[in-house]
Amino acid sequence: MQVKLKVKRFDPESGEEPYYQQYSVEMPETATVLDALIEVREYHDGSLSLRCSCRSAICGSCAMRINGRARLACKTSVRSLAEEGEEILVEPAGNMPTIKDLVADMAPFWDKVRAVKPWLQPSGPPPEREYVVPNEAMQALGEVMNCIMCGACVSDCTSLEVDKTFLGPAALAKAWRFVGDPRDAQDLSRLREYSEPSGIWDCTRCNICVQVCPKDVKPMDQILKLRAAAVHEGIRNNNGSRHTLAFVELVNANGRLDEFRLPIFTEGKFNIIGQLSYLPSAPRMIRSGKMPPVFPHKISGVKHVKRIFKQFGEREPGPAKLVSAGGH
Ligand code: SF4
Ligand code: SF4
Ligand code: FES
Repeated sequence: MQVKLKVKRFDPESGEEPYYQQYSVEMPETATVLDALIEVREYHDGSLSLRCSCRSAICGSCAMRINGRARLACKTSVRSLAEEGEEILVEPAGNMPTIKDLVADMAPFWDKVRAVKPWLQPSGPPPEREYVVPNEAMQALGEVMNCIMCGACVSDCTSLEVDKTFLGPAALAKAWRFVGDPRDAQDLSRLREYSEPSGIWDCTRCNICVQVCPKDVKPMDQILKLRAAAVHEGIRNNNGSRHTLAFVELVNANGRLDEFRLPIFTEGKFNIIGQLSYLPSAPRMIRSGKMPPVFPHKISGVKHVKRIFKQFGEREPGPAKLVSAGGH
């Protein structure tokens, strides 16, 4: 079949602005986007730069944006994206600087992975023989251990797009890999660090990283486990956990969210300056009819909601690793 590619080209050393270049190559029906790009590089334009190695969705080196979404080029068939003659848009991974054409600079990605201390920190002297981990304890880590560090999730993370300091989905999924590991003894200090600004509470829960991850790691779900573990460990002196707990408190009280008090609770009941920062949005909310009532409305079945909360509240909380592994 005839495969048409529209590839973003950029060579910072040339001093030229990025531009798009079209190629047309004859490929078998089973070809992947990577096959087509290699065909271009080998037989049509040797100046095209891309990164690849295994060609089998294992090494993680060929993540790029294809038709506007991060994917592994070697795992994406051209047939699945375009009918004969339709153009496929190929661009470098997002949220990372471009070294040349389709080659993204992964240095910031690795800096963030290193920042979460992705190694075991056990306590006490080294064990005399190997540490045998119970199967059920490692099952909670099955998803994160599939990560191939391709950076697809980082490429499309909406939070990173507006805040480059955010640790990002890949690093935080890796963080859960160690908090959830029974051999690691630094849960508390790790969770404290991950709860700082640019950490777990800066994820907007947009779910994009879950959608684009080629290995079903579900990075956002791992971030939610870290949040649950942090709250369970009493690390609550931040807007993120206060916001979460305020949701629970307000829904328990009224059976529905009280958006008037939510920012007050989120900022902290005594943080007047923080609370006042919400004031400028009040006129806009009033104008658009979105101002929440000052006195919250209770729903008619609020007693049933309270009963649910009571039932969950009475559950004996387990150790953090198990509580968070359950994803509450
Ligand atoms: S869910 Fe969170 S980490 Fe994942 S892409 Fe959205 S903002 Fe980024
Ligand atoms: S979590 Fe998924 S998308 Fe992100 S680096 Fe790992 S394998 Fe790639
Ligand atoms: S070339 Fe290794 S994952 Fe695509």
